[in-house]
Amino acid sequence: MDILTSSLIVVSIAWICIQILSSDFRARKSSKLPPGPYGLPIIGNILHLGSNPHRSLAKLARKYGPVMSLKLGSVTTVVFSSPETAKLVLQKHDASFSSRTIPSASKALRHDEFSMVWLPVGEQWRKLRKICKEHMFSTSRLDASEGLRREKLQKLRDYVGECCETGRAVDVGEAAFTTSLNLMSASLFSVEFGQFNSDSSQEMKDVVWGVMESVGRPNLADYFPVLKFADPQRILKGLEFYAGKLIARFDEIIDERLKSRGEKHDLVEVLIDLHQKDGAQLSRDDIKHLLLDLFVAGTDTTSGTVEWAMTELIRNPTKMWKLRNEIRNLIEKNGKVEESDISLLPYLQAVVKETFRLHPVAPFLVPHKAKSDVEINGYIVPKNAQILVNVWASGRDPSFWENANEFMPERFLNENDGVDFKGQDFELIPFGTGRRICPGLPLANRMVHQMLATFVGDFEWRLESMKPQEIDMNEKFGLTLQKVVPLQAIPTKL
Ligand code: HEM
Repeated sequence: MDILTSSLIVVSIAWICIQILSSDFRARKSSKLPPGPYGLPIIGNILHLGSNPHRSLAKLARKYGPVMSLKLGSVTTVVFSSPETAKLVLQKHDASFSSRTIPSASKALRHDEFSMVWLPVGEQWRKLRKICKEHMFSTSRLDASEGLRREKLQKLRDYVGECCETGRAVDVGEAAFTTSLNLMSASLFSVEFGQFNSDSSQEMKDVVWGVMESVGRPNLADYFPVLKFADPQRILKGLEFYAGKLIARFDEIIDERLKSRGEKHDLVEVLIDLHQKDGAQLSRDDIKHLLLDLFVAGTDTTSGTVEWAMTELIRNPTKMWKLRNEIRNLIEKNGKVEESDISLLPYLQAVVKETFRLHPVAPFLVPHKAKSDVEINGYIVPKNAQILVNVWASGRDPSFWENANEFMPERFLNENDGVDFKGQDFELIPFGTGRRICPGLPLANRMVHQMLATFVGDFEWRLESMKPQEIDMNEKFGLTLQKVVPLQAIPTKL
């Protein structure tokens, strides 16, 4: 090719790019889309996401504002990055924004057709939420199942106690995960899935993480519908593999239960009752996919939060000391910490809130979708746009939080006293709020406080070969935000 031809090709490509960019500019102006960075032809702003999209988009929001639009391939995405705008999405316009954008990976095993997480707000979704609320998360159900959680926490205490005797380091996230796993599997179907420090627990952790990562990872097939069937990153295949393992196990559990009804008091028993009373209302597929939702959503969210809390406490020894004193004072008085004692432990509550503020495990919640065009702050959020609420950014917004990047639980006893994570205070909404608020919040609330009280109240912790400030704080982005390097620490019994 001679120099003239190649120059002509370069100039033509540059001209086409300028045309596409200026059409993007014109489209933004004429459609009143919220501002945002200009994207490249075809791929749009995909490269702006980076490996930690919550951080990249928080940075972009500082330039473009708390309502910002992006084009991810062919998908218009609007990102809300402040407490005020989160309130507009999740309270004022909740009805218009409470559907989901369905990731193509969730079509694995037809999960999107049965799952509470992906169903639109409608009759079937309401029915599933009602069943969970009545039979699992109501105060009376949770009080009745406290004994089960006490038993699992004792196993955690025994396991950490053994590590004290041998001087072995504990993988804190793994130990918390095994506890959550056993608690969930015992409440759902009276089976214990995990053993501490074992291959079976690690395998389960890989499966749960595999599901979370497959659904949460940016997927080209979602941005370019023509790629849906090609599954270029093999994400759909991955989800079929991981979710398939769990669904096959749930199938076996249901079959076994059908042979011996009435002996156990768990969720499967309730679900089979509902199925047998009126199969059309709750099919066997509904049961399996509901178990999958609860099992996956309830395990690594809770254990991930506990691991972040322990990481921050080990990095901040005076805060660890303060928390331990509070818990030990109560143990000296009452002999133990019950779930009803959480209200007597203000510093423990403050530590949990501060962990949710800095490390919300679902930094964008679970993406929502606009049901119709909605006007917000003078911009139009178009019908079918993907909606991301960046709660990670709100949690670090310096106009709401003093020294926003520092771990300071005391703020919740002083200037931010009264701020809670139950959905009323939009600067702290790790569980979301409105119609789609996490239904497992009441259970997670008890589990996180109790696991943390066990780790801190009964043991002292030190690092094996590094200073607290050297702990790796990098995050791994999936549907949930986990530590890249697991926290390993050596316990001593108190
Ligand atoms: C949804 C957070 C524990 C079950 C969600 C959402 C968030 C969240 C942010 C999405 C809200 C939205 O889209 O607006 C958390 C956190 C947890 C936790 C931070 C623990 C620290 C649990 C537990 C369970 C659970 C223990 C059940 C056992 C679910 C389900 C949904 C959900 C089924 C989907 C609800 C729907 O779409 O209607 N959670 N969660 N979560 N969570 Fe949780």
